[in-house]
Amino acid sequence: MQTIRGFRDILPEQIPLWQRVEKEASYLFESFGYSEIRIPVLEKTALFARSIGETTDIVEKEMYTFEDRKGDKLTLRPEATASICRSYIQHKLYATDPVRKFYLTGPMFRRERPQKGRYRQFYQIDAEVFGVESAYIDSELIFLLNELFKRLGLTGLSAHVNSLGCPECRPGFQKALLDFLGERKEALCENCQRRIKKNPLRILDCKVETCKQALEGAPATVDHLCSACDDHFAIVCASLEKQGVKFHVDKTLVRGLDYYTRTAWEIQTTALGAQSAVAGGGRYDRLVEELGGPPTPAIGFAIGFDRLVEVMEQLEIQVQPREMDLYILPLGDAALEKAYHWSCELNRQGIRTETDFRGKSMKALMKRANKLNAPFVLIVGENELAENQVILRNMETKEQISLDIDTLIPELTKRLK
Ligand code: HAM
Repeated sequence: MQTIRGFRDILPEQIPLWQRVEKEASYLFESFGYSEIRIPVLEKTALFARSIGETTDIVEKEMYTFEDRKGDKLTLRPEATASICRSYIQHKLYATDPVRKFYLTGPMFRRERPQKGRYRQFYQIDAEVFGVESAYIDSELIFLLNELFKRLGLTGLSAHVNSLGCPECRPGFQKALLDFLGERKEALCENCQRRIKKNPLRILDCKVETCKQALEGAPATVDHLCSACDDHFAIVCASLEKQGVKFHVDKTLVRGLDYYTRTAWEIQTTALGAQSAVAGGGRYDRLVEELGGPPTPAIGFAIGFDRLVEVMEQLEIQVQPREMDLYILPLGDAALEKAYHWSCELNRQGIRTETDFRGKSMKALMKRANKLNAPFVLIVGENELAENQVILRNMETKEQISLDIDTLIPELTKRLK
């Protein structure tokens, strides 16, 4: 049996990097006042169709959707924002505090063509803020991302920021886009021909070469903002600059999900070939209301965890797993029983101890102790046991001392802690 295409195991050897990121991220999120939220991986299909958008690639082509035994249409979540909004509305999370900040880490599912940096089950670290209209929260989120990447030692990333406008200015932009397209409309792919009527902004995100060519020189949303959106975006840019966050305004950035209004951004890398976005986010001031909640400004981002780890690997950022403190080497049945009890007790006290229950020879066990990089070995031999003694060996200096069994645990705790 093998994993399904696009699905993969994250093996123990790779885990220290993942844990390092998780630790740093949750520490930083908690500092900024975010609380962790955990939500199901399975939701009603309609939730994603309505929020991400019927004409997006995700909803049109990439969702794992099926009917369960009762005929309910369900989907493995392709992202977390829609589900967090659902939870926010369902539990009236706005009632306890007008400002709520959440973070989440977990698997997402999209049936894309697998390649480096692109999987069908992938992980995101997601952050969402509800109830803040001010542009400073947009900057704070981008600052937070930047700070996290800095702490993780990442280099060579660039922040692309754009404003997609709001329902006030979007129609004006759409008209300008359609005017621009004029007779170029014929050059667009079949999908985009459909999108012209339903959702012209999506055309700007099309990956088909002929569409890309037809769109060269197309109007940009930032050039068609209403004054409120323009002011908002000016504050975002100015406050990022003031904090020393490097970014550039990327007029071509539209993002692949429909719910965005105003600020949208991506953190990109050149390290992963075609898969350049390590994180993406934006404001979605209409979504909570569209899903049946009270009007609530909202904004968030998601980091592609798999991609982030791959960039760290490329930069040769390494994290050592926790080292062992003591390896107990039991020789004979009586020693095995003692080793088992001592190992339980020492681990309970926070001394990372391992023993070996296989009844192997001294030579074989010493070989394993070396392989496991144990700094100390406790040799429990029959002769020593008869004298109420064990031997503690320092593997680096090769120095050995005898310890009394009656005071063994406190003695070891003192020496090894
Ligand atoms: P997204 O841009 O679709 O945004 O995904 C965010 C990040 O997830 C991407 O930048 C990428 O690093 C990673 N990612 C996406 N698809 C894959 C894949 N197939 N394999 C590996 N990594 C992938 C969202 O999902 C929005 N929910 C972000 C957001 C939160 N906006 C507001 N709040």
